[in-house]
Amino acid sequence: MVSAKIFVLAALATVACAKSRCKPTSTSISSASVPTPTLPSTGGSKEVPAPPPTAVLKKIAVGHGLQNYTCTTASQPTAAALGALAVLYDVTALYPGTPGSPLKDQEDFDALTTDFLWTHDLPINFVDAAAYVADTTNPFPAPAEAVLGGNLHIPFLGHHYFDFEAIPMFDLSTIGLKASVGKNDSAPAPAGADVGPSGTGAVAWLQLKESGKGRSVGLDLVYRVITAGGNPESCAVTGPATYSIPYSAFYWFYSLS
Ligand SMILES: *[C@@H]1O[C@H](CO)[C@@H](O)[C@H](O)[C@H]1NC(C)=O
Ligand SMILES: *[C@@H]1O[C@H](CO)[C@@H](O)[C@H](O)[C@H]1NC(C)=O
Repeated sequence: MVSAKIFVLAALATVACAKSRCKPTSTSISSASVPTPTLPSTGGSKEVPAPPPTAVLKKIAVGHGLQNYTCTTASQPTAAALGALAVLYDVTALYPGTPGSPLKDQEDFDALTTDFLWTHDLPINFVDAAAYVADTTNPFPAPAEAVLGGNLHIPFLGHHYFDFEAIPMFDLSTIGLKASVGKNDSAPAPAGADVGPSGTGAVAWLQLKESGKGRSVGLDLVYRVITAGGNPESCAVTGPATYSIPYSAFYWFYSLS
């Protein structure tokens, strides 16, 4: 994991096409076209349901933030999920094959969640950063782009949080779209997924569908894929406790037209 990460960051730092792995640009200029992004698959026995053929992909984001959990007793089989706080960054234009994307292939693109998780400071206001205790009255710093590997600038897109009814909300504030959603289906993250700085493992992949609460704008379906970190600790280890675990994930946002 560590060597793979260093390799990817080296690639990011060398945006100019100086490495042997870069293709000559002359072969692609005349045939340059925007690829149709394909939702990743876990490769396992369980997949999240594919988007319907009529679904229109609006954005691909990386979310970087915290998953929040609680254990009431040490004997509880798993911690209960309370919510999440994450900043969303727009990686749509980095999709491999998109003209102007400095990422050369799918591997570099898929590595973005790990790159965020291990090399980008959590974009959260903390009362205790070492223990991942967020300032929940004012959790988010002012909107700002992310910079990875020294020179990959990724635009701010919006925020992910749970609303006053504990319903997951994705507010893509820079483009005026919102998704208020609930879980429709899930699939375990692949065995090799990034376990994250807390070492607890990667949260499941999800298909989230519109909540019917009347709070969405222009979005109907959200996928969480290529997750890194975010799983809870065992309640036997923490005892009764409420705490947060850092994570990163891709979110794919669709409208059903
Ligand atoms: C986690 O959930 C608890 C209980 O709802 C809440 O008090 C705390 O502020 C939450 N922390 C974060 C980081 O969301
Ligand atoms: C929701 O999940 C069920 C069970 O996997 C699936 O049959 C259904 O197609 C999903 N809904 C959408 C909108 O994909």
